[in-house]
Amino acid sequence: MKRLRTQVGIVGAGPAGLLLGHLLHLRGIDSIVLEDRSREYVIGRVRAGVLEQSTVDLLVSVGLGQRLQREGMRHGAIQLCFLRRRHRIDFEELTPGRFITVYGQNELVTDLIAARRATGRPLHFSVRDLHIADFDSAPRIGFQTEEDECEVACDFIAGCDGGHGVCRPSILTDHAGVVRVYEREYPFAWLGILAQASPSCEELVYALHDRGFALFSMRSPSITRLYLQCAPDENIKNWPDDRIWHELTARFDTADAWSPNRGAILQKGISAMHSLVVEPMRCGRLFLAGDAAHIVPPTGAKGLNLAVADVWVLAHALSAYYHEEREDLLEHYSDRCLRRVWAVQRFSWWMTSMLHLAPGGSDFDYRRQLADLDYVTTSRAAMTSLAENYTGLPLDSGSLPSES
Ligand code: FAD
Ligand code: PHB
Repeated sequence: MKRLRTQVGIVGAGPAGLLLGHLLHLRGIDSIVLEDRSREYVIGRVRAGVLEQSTVDLLVSVGLGQRLQREGMRHGAIQLCFLRRRHRIDFEELTPGRFITVYGQNELVTDLIAARRATGRPLHFSVRDLHIADFDSAPRIGFQTEEDECEVACDFIAGCDGGHGVCRPSILTDHAGVVRVYEREYPFAWLGILAQASPSCEELVYALHDRGFALFSMRSPSITRLYLQCAPDENIKNWPDDRIWHELTARFDTADAWSPNRGAILQKGISAMHSLVVEPMRCGRLFLAGDAAHIVPPTGAKGLNLAVADVWVLAHALSAYYHEEREDLLEHYSDRCLRRVWAVQRFSWWMTSMLHLAPGGSDFDYRRQLADLDYVTTSRAAMTSLAENYTGLPLDSGSLPSES
């Protein structure tokens, strides 16, 4: 058995784990990052695309902005499409001056891995049989590499292992009764594709059609990203390329005859829609962050941004512990994060309910959704609320606008 020691053991090399490792490094705090998938798998995983302004500002301020600022696509608006018309929500004018950046999660993860490598601090991919123990007193993480069976003793564990990791179940097993999980399943999923096609619109387009939801997004000047609402148990084999393009064209039917450009489909996959919150996000010396602590449906484009907000709070709290001998920020970690988490849950649920057709939903439901869309595209107050939430609540001062 190889015995190791570090200050913070980080489980998971997704955006949350890698960014936490980077923020701790900048504060002189040692960590080990452990990932059970290969580097190629982690970098190849196509997921988020939209970064809030505060996420981008944070990444730039910690030296991670070089490629992001060069290649990220800055958007000052989105469009909502219903009853064959597209309506702009102009973030820059409404918020004012705030925007979002489209930059693939896999690009961000690539940058984060390069930054970690440059620090020389440990990052292990393809570890096996990872388990955590004694997180109430003297935390340990056990795992296997190709060569060794290892155990790392740490002051704290950061559970950044996403929606299917080991840290959340460990909390639920060891602290049943103390920890609560709030959940909601949605009766639909997203079929997502990447296509070799130049984006036919400069802005993201969210569409509600009587055939269901569709979303137009992009990754670069030559790659379009598109999503379609489908059944949660849909088999991707039932969706040959022709059927996907046919359905997208039908759902993006607009009076001005706009439609996405077609091209070779490079990747396709189905993502479930789920809302989940674990409360509290801390048990003893184990802190959950990102998707390990909460899941949002992707309609608000918030999961990655929320993961960034968590680790920002956690890195400050750990820094105060090591450099100022203060434990109060660690004690407030969960409450501070959860206020933002619930604000984002509300927004993501609202966007999802407004833009999808629930199977078995009535005509009344559809008309009500259209009324919601009508309101949000005509009332300046409603548009401003959407813009404020979509571009992201501020990261500092407790994460929400002041109550005063
Ligand atoms: P993850 O990215 O899931 O990373 C967790 C890591 O832990 C993974 O690498 C995993 O392999 C590893 N791991 C798991 N188990 C173990 C184990 N036992 N041991 C070691 N390692 C383990 N969010 C946005 O903000 N904007 C968007 O536009 C957006 N669009 C999305 C579109 C889709 C289709 C989907 C599915 C999601 C989208 N999201 C979006 C959400 C976003 O992708 C996630 O919220 C984000 O990946 C969370 O980061 P994370 O680091 O917490 O978790
Ligand atoms: C994406 O580009 O992948 C994307 C955009 C907006 C969303 C979700 C995903 O709400």
